[in-house]
Amino acid sequence: MSAPAEQASDQRVPVRADLAAVEPYGAPQLDVPVRLNTNETAEPPPAGYLEEVGRRIQGLELNRYPDRPATRLRAALAGRLGLTADRVWAANGSNEVLQQLLQAYGGPDRRALFVRPGYSMYPELCRTSLTPAVEVDLDERFELSAEVAAEAVATHGPDVVLLPSPNNPVGNPIAHDAIRAMHDGSRALVVVDEAYIEFADARHSVLPLLDELPRLVIVRTLSKAFRLAGLRLGYLLAPAWVVDDLQKVRLPYHLDAIKQVAGIVAVEQEDAFLEHRRRVAAERDRVAAALRERSDVEVFPSVANFVLVRAAVPDLFDRLLEQGVLVRDFSSRPRLAGCVRVTIGTAEENDTFLAALQTVLGEG
Ligand SMILES: Cc1ncc(COP(=O)(O)O)c(C=O)c1O
Repeated sequence: MSAPAEQASDQRVPVRADLAAVEPYGAPQLDVPVRLNTNETAEPPPAGYLEEVGRRIQGLELNRYPDRPATRLRAALAGRLGLTADRVWAANGSNEVLQQLLQAYGGPDRRALFVRPGYSMYPELCRTSLTPAVEVDLDERFELSAEVAAEAVATHGPDVVLLPSPNNPVGNPIAHDAIRAMHDGSRALVVVDEAYIEFADARHSVLPLLDELPRLVIVRTLSKAFRLAGLRLGYLLAPAWVVDDLQKVRLPYHLDAIKQVAGIVAVEQEDAFLEHRRRVAAERDRVAAALRERSDVEVFPSVANFVLVRAAVPDLFDRLLEQGVLVRDFSSRPRLAGCVRVTIGTAEENDTFLAALQTVLGEG
């Protein structure tokens, strides 16, 4: 008789062929003193938030399934933006919202288009939803002109366009005229992923275009400026027919009752939640200015809570890690040689990062 481990591997069912060589997606979660690699907010939720959630969940009937379409949560999210609940949809993080969009509007006979560099989950979500994808290069400043945008949709005829704005990992917003060109030059669902928009000046949001562009969808999250990455709650703003279509792919009761309450309380306490945004923006500008002082690094303009930094050191990520600072390594990605992305943390954490960089690179 063969050993149990051998037997187990004999019995293994081969995973889908296109997944065989795939590494699970995700930034390393290492236990180091300074973690600046996943674009969370360093400050915890406001005082009193968890107490209020704790108080409200006492009344839940957890023996019953939750409100399936999450109507009250969606109404709360819609109300703060002057929309009706039928134009808002929520799921477990904006990644799940994006996944549901590709489940509904992607698929083997459809095509998705996104920009490069851009959010690295888009190719993953296309793969698992079996959606063929094309990537369009941003220019050397990582910007998208209306001309390139129009040409891209004319050439590729996408069904879904995914645009992170502010862009991750670059940090800059995508110009509205390019978004409009992609919308008007195609029949695609144009999804603008505003995961970091609350850190930026309000004029960068495409919210004012929502009623004007009939196939525009805005995706947002409570993971970043709302300081609730641990809650896993994201949402979208869209025409009501998109929300109707997403109900066809969502799992029944996908949002648990505790999360729905926690989301409603967060919306009610929005001002307290978002009160730190100016501090983060000021810290970002301070870190970027300190980096610009150095002649040996390039820092890209950012309106988000992170900055993309390029240095001519092959192992910058590992060298910073040796100093106890975890950042996100993009150096092996196309067009991002030498780049790491640094989340803006507390002032002390940011100083530790700057000092670590100085140790690694020397006086610049
Ligand atoms: C551009 C962008 N979109 C979406 C997400 C997903 O966030 P979540 O699933 O936590 O809402 C992220 C997270 O890093 C992101 O950077």
